[in-house]
Amino acid sequence: MIQVGFIGAGKMAEAMMAGFIKERVVAPVEILAGDVSAERLAEVSRKHGVRITLDNAEVVRETSVCVLAVKPQQLNEILRNLAPHFTSDHLIISIAAGKTTGYLESLLPNGRLVRVMPNIACLVGEGMNVYARGARATAADSEQVARLLGCCGKATELPETLFDAVTALSGSGPAFFAYLLDRLVDGAVQEGMPRGQALMLASQTMLGTARLLMEKGMEPAGLAEAVTSAKGTTAAGRAVLETPELAELLSRTIAAAARRSRELAGA
Ligand SMILES: NC(=O)c1ccc[n+]([C@@H]2O[C@H](COP(=O)([O-])OP(=O)(O)OC[C@H]3O[C@@H](n4cnc5c(N)ncnc54)[C@H](OP(=O)(O)O)[C@@H]3O)[C@@H](O)[C@H]2O)c1
Repeated sequence: MIQVGFIGAGKMAEAMMAGFIKERVVAPVEILAGDVSAERLAEVSRKHGVRITLDNAEVVRETSVCVLAVKPQQLNEILRNLAPHFTSDHLIISIAAGKTTGYLESLLPNGRLVRVMPNIACLVGEGMNVYARGARATAADSEQVARLLGCCGKATELPETLFDAVTALSGSGPAFFAYLLDRLVDGAVQEGMPRGQALMLASQTMLGTARLLMEKGMEPAGLAEAVTSAKGTTAAGRAVLETPELAELLSRTIAAAARRSRELAGA
C-alpha cells in the first residue's frame, strides 16, 4: 500500500480519497489529510477513517505521494513554507487550477511533480481527470497517477499546453452542464411538471446522452439527427435552440474560463 497525503482536505481532496479507499488502492490508515480547519479534518476522519493533522509539514514528512489540494491562490505561500520538507522521493500531485508544472517546480526544487485537472464528478466515481508530467516526473509516476485517478473516474494524459482548455471544459464543465440542464428543467416546469420529476428526467437524459456518445462512439450531430424526424417535436425544439447566438455564447463561456485559468497561473 502506498502512503498518500493531502495538503487541504476540501471538496476535491475528499472526493479523491473516497475513490482511493472505495477501490481499495489505498487503505484509510495510509492516508494523511492536512487542513487549517480542525472541524473539517474531524469530518473527513469521521466519514473516511483517514489520519488527520493541522501540520502540513507532517503530511509531507510522513507520505511519499502528496496531493496539493488547496485553492490556487493559497498555494504560493503554502509551498514556500513546505518546500524544504520535500525530497526527491516525493511524488507531488497538484490539482490547483492554472498552476503550471514549470511554476510549481520553480517553488519546489525537490520531488517529481504531476499536474492534474480533476472534476467534481470524482465524488461519484465519474470524474474526468487529465494529467501532465513535470520535467522531473517519470513514466512510472504517470502510471501511478493514472492508477490513483482511475479510482475516481476516467484518467488521460494530455500535453500541458492544453490545460487551460481542459480546465474550462472538464474542470469547470459540470457547472456549465448543470446550468443548461436547469434551464431545460425550468421549461418542463412551465409545462406543468413537478420540479423533482423534471430534474430526474433531465439528469437521466443527460447521463444517457453521454453514454450513447461514449459507448456507441456517436458524433453529437449524428445523435441529434437520430432523434430528429421531419416536422417532429425535436425539430421544433432545435429550430429555437440551435442559433448562432447560443453557439457563440457557449464558445465564449469556454474562452472566459480558459482565460481565467491563464490568469490564475500568475496569481
Ligand atoms: N471544486 C472543483 O470542482 C475543482 C475542479 C478541478 C480542480 N479543482 C482544484 O482543486 C483544488 C481544491 O479545490 P476545492 O474545491 O476542493 O477547494 P476547497 O473545498 O476550498 O478545499 C481547500 C481546502 O484547503 C483548506 N486550506 C486553506 N488554507 C490551507 C492551508 N494553509 N493548509 C492546509 N489547508 C488549507 C481550506 O480550508 P478553508 O476552507 O478554511 O480555507 C479547504 O478546506 C483547487 O486548487 C481547485 O483549483 C477543483
